[in-house]
Amino acid sequence: MAVTRRRFINIVGGGVVLAAASGGLWAATRDPLAARRPWQDAGQGETDLRRRLLSFAILAPNPHNRQPWLANLSTSDEITLYCQSDRRLPQTDPYDRQITIGLGCFLELLAQAAAEEGYHAEITLFPEGEPQPRLDARPVAHIRLVQDDAIKADPLFAQVLSRRSNKEPYDTARPVAAGKLVEIASAARTASIAYTNDPARVAALRRLAWDAYHTEITTPRTLKESIDLVRVGRTAIEANPDGIDLSGPLIEGLSMAGLLSRQAMLDQTSTAFQQQIPVLKEPVDTARAFLWLKTAGNSRADQIAAGRDYIRLNLAATAAGVSMHPLSQALQEFAEMRPLFLAMREALVVRDNETLQMFARLGYGPAVEGAPRWPVDTRIRSV
Ligand SMILES: Cc1cc2nc3c(=O)[nH]c(=O)nc-3n(C[C@H](O)[C@H](O)[C@H](O)COP(=O)(O)O)c2cc1C
Repeated sequence: MAVTRRRFINIVGGGVVLAAASGGLWAATRDPLAARRPWQDAGQGETDLRRRLLSFAILAPNPHNRQPWLANLSTSDEITLYCQSDRRLPQTDPYDRQITIGLGCFLELLAQAAAEEGYHAEITLFPEGEPQPRLDARPVAHIRLVQDDAIKADPLFAQVLSRRSNKEPYDTARPVAAGKLVEIASAARTASIAYTNDPARVAALRRLAWDAYHTEITTPRTLKESIDLVRVGRTAIEANPDGIDLSGPLIEGLSMAGLLSRQAMLDQTSTAFQQQIPVLKEPVDTARAFLWLKTAGNSRADQIAAGRDYIRLNLAATAAGVSMHPLSQALQEFAEMRPLFLAMREALVVRDNETLQMFARLGYGPAVEGAPRWPVDTRIRSV
């Protein structure tokens, strides 16, 4: 996420770092271009079909951009998908529910990429059993690629390179029309989708979403989980193209001025911590609509299905020109979140037997670059 001048001024209240923004040539070199390469490389220069498909699948949305997927290609025409265990988020996602949703997003893109090339991706989920209560070393999925002349390409695939989680503030003068919400929701296959653009309901949901966000960032262990994953500036992002990326000359200036140390970000009494609050709140406050996704059960297969549907919604929103951004805090299953977890379920009329899997804001945001990705080679596991 590149931090713009306006947001930067919000952070420090002016002064110090504006000088850094005028760095000319230096400023122009601050974009972490190498970390965005996988968006250009997708589908290019790979002779092995499986690698070609993977080069699209790694562009899937996933929690904190941890990219936990690992593919084993030791059997020809087959892919076995694993989750890299140290890329999970045990504080905010103690049962690996969100990580599994991200793996579902990955499988949906893989299947769409396969269809594009005339192959059916025959996916067997958790072939050695569903790991509970957390994922383990067993495979997440086994995929066999079967040539199928009758398979239809999915029109949503056309959006794969433009899809974003748009985390910027949205235009407060532009509501999201009901027709757009209907169009987006219709992309889901199995999950139950609901949405609202009703101003009073949206206002109430913004408050709940922010209270949950605030709870996450004021609970020391969940705050630390995020801060540990912050990558500040081009060098750090290119070295580790994942996590929470903060880029651009302004942010690098702030960092050089010593205002973005991990220690300052963890200290809730510091100026750095306090001044980021309005910056984090503005995106929530500018939500113009919300959309959420529920499943009847909460098995690993249900979570994968939720992920497959979530990315379909995200791709459909891209096609409709609407920005989308998950706000997952109130869905998180750690103790301090419990009251807001229950309040959000009540506000969204989630029944006792249902699981709220995704909650996202919608609106119209500025164009943003593709988020960093580890290159496909780094996500292939040798036997
Ligand atoms: C299950 C799930 C939960 C997510 N929750 C959040 C969230 O709470 N806040 C947020 O900013 N992004 C959230 N995201 C979006 C990811 O941060 C995003 O996909 C990742 O940074 C990669 O960026 P991209 O989607 O633009 O490629 C979530 C994504 C998934 C799949």
